[in-house]
Amino acid sequence: MHSNLISPHGGTLVNLTVEHERQEELKRLSRDWPSWDLTPRQLCDLELLANGGFSPLRGFLCRGDYESVCENMRLADGTIWPIPITLDIPEELAKKLDNGSMLALRDPEGVMLAVLRVEEVWQPDFMQETEQTFGSTHPEHPGVAYLTNSTNPWYVGGKLECLQLPNHYDFVELRLTPRQLRDRFATMGWHRVVAFQTRNPMHRAHQEITFRAARELEANLLIHPVVGMTKPGDVDHYTRVRCYLSILKHYPRNTAMISLLPVAMRLAGPREALWHAIIRKNYGCTHLIVGRDHAGPGSDSSGRPFYGPYDAQEVFQRHQDELGIQMVPFKMMVYVEDRDEYVPVDEVPKGAAVKTLSGTELRGRLAAGRDIPSWFSFPEVVQELKRTYPSRSKRGFTIFFTGLSAAGKSTLANVLMVKLLEAGGRPVTLLDGDIVRKNLSSELGFSKEHRDLNIRRIGFVASEITKNGGIALCAPIAPYDSVRKEVRQMIEAVSGSGFILVHVATPLEVCEQRDPKGIYAKARAGIIKEFTGISDPYEEPTDAELTIDTTTMSPEECVQQIILHLEKEGYIGPNG
Ligand code: ADX
Ligand code: MG
Repeated sequence: MHSNLISPHGGTLVNLTVEHERQEELKRLSRDWPSWDLTPRQLCDLELLANGGFSPLRGFLCRGDYESVCENMRLADGTIWPIPITLDIPEELAKKLDNGSMLALRDPEGVMLAVLRVEEVWQPDFMQETEQTFGSTHPEHPGVAYLTNSTNPWYVGGKLECLQLPNHYDFVELRLTPRQLRDRFATMGWHRVVAFQTRNPMHRAHQEITFRAARELEANLLIHPVVGMTKPGDVDHYTRVRCYLSILKHYPRNTAMISLLPVAMRLAGPREALWHAIIRKNYGCTHLIVGRDHAGPGSDSSGRPFYGPYDAQEVFQRHQDELGIQMVPFKMMVYVEDRDEYVPVDEVPKGAAVKTLSGTELRGRLAAGRDIPSWFSFPEVVQELKRTYPSRSKRGFTIFFTGLSAAGKSTLANVLMVKLLEAGGRPVTLLDGDIVRKNLSSELGFSKEHRDLNIRRIGFVASEITKNGGIALCAPIAPYDSVRKEVRQMIEAVSGSGFILVHVATPLEVCEQRDPKGIYAKARAGIIKEFTGISDPYEEPTDAELTIDTTTMSPEECVQQIILHLEKEGYIGPNG
């Protein structure tokens, strides 16, 4: 390929930071302007706009550019730009803005980072945007999901004047801006620099790709992982950065370096590959590695991939000439056992045994506390992952009992708590319905709204406990299915799995017969209103891990069932 191509950006870096005097002026004037607290995604976008990572953009897209980007992957003037960079705001704010308005953009603490000179405010067609940018409207595509569920309905476009970059306090020495990285390359005498994009910890396949690319091109290597936003559920960036740092010694000295990229990924596959290329060019790189399913979100729940494995490479190939940075394509790398080597899948000798290990399999092994084979990863990387993902028997979890009043929830929860304390190893917290209502939710009544709010609070506390390695036992009535599911999601988001719903399914007649507090009698007499099972609904769960009817079983017997379930699922092991 040609290497002396003229870049559409002319290699020039946009710098949106204004001088001190102007900053002071903007701060003074901003007292009269509306302001907007940026969302985490918007903060990432602002950072790359401000530092020139998104050159040639000088602000959030206006409508003409936006529509052109969605439709043709180009700004209105024809410059290639594949991803809409937009500022979404709620209607109340949109109504206050029009052409010429000034909008102060702030971080979550209220610090003014930038000012937007508004040119246009409009309501975009999200369906069209998802179809065009993602080639999909599937709600499981994380980019589509973000646009559908987490984006405000109005867009505001215009140019930016920036006062400061968003604050970061983690790995500060690794966060080089495009300017700083270009200068660093110049200082080190790096002319050809091949960038490696990643949102995962690096294992042997990745080390192999990057090392091969550097050797074949006689180029230096920039490991340039995304630390802004990636796919929900990815390994957190703290853990990943520790992995990257440990992997550096697997390259010859002075040939490779790491810098962190605070971008918010869209997981747009082929379009995102082009975007990654433009960004890396702005950061001073000459080449970008594009492997299998680059920047793709994988597959949907029925196993259908959102993009073909090499779609990104094809689209990149078609636009390479005008991007001003070259692609280094890789076929899927697989491990060939008898050669003890990673090889592109199309170069595997006939009949040779190959090995692969999927992300799901990796997570499964970590959860079960099993070994990660050395052909797959490096010991230092495995050790970091094990620290972050201890086996299930060392992680926190939540057991959530639901059922009618007097069904036996509190009794079972208390017995179970004692058994877990006997076993030891993890702190146990009981969030019993009555006790929570006395403390956390004393002001709440029994309307659906109040019941849901009560359950959300319990869920929040349980998720904090679970996240920090404890065991939370919740025992409210929790009559509504949707809020139980919300709590499940909250817990699963912090612990991978870790949510066990136990339906204490003792029939109403038995509960009423027991009536230890005499409240069924009062409910029948109409003295207590909104009483679950009598004058208020109870939605039976269909997603319970365990269903236990306490009518004819002792609490000990019931709790044994739970303990055996915990053992089967690996939540409790020989040492805890
Ligand atoms: S990505 O979303 O940032 O692309 P990931 O961190 O998984 O995800 O991939 C980083 C880069 O390595 C991408 O270019 C991807 O295509 C490539 N890659 C990852 N695993 C393999 C593999 N086994 N074979 C070939 N390329 C791979
Ligand atoms: Mg991938």
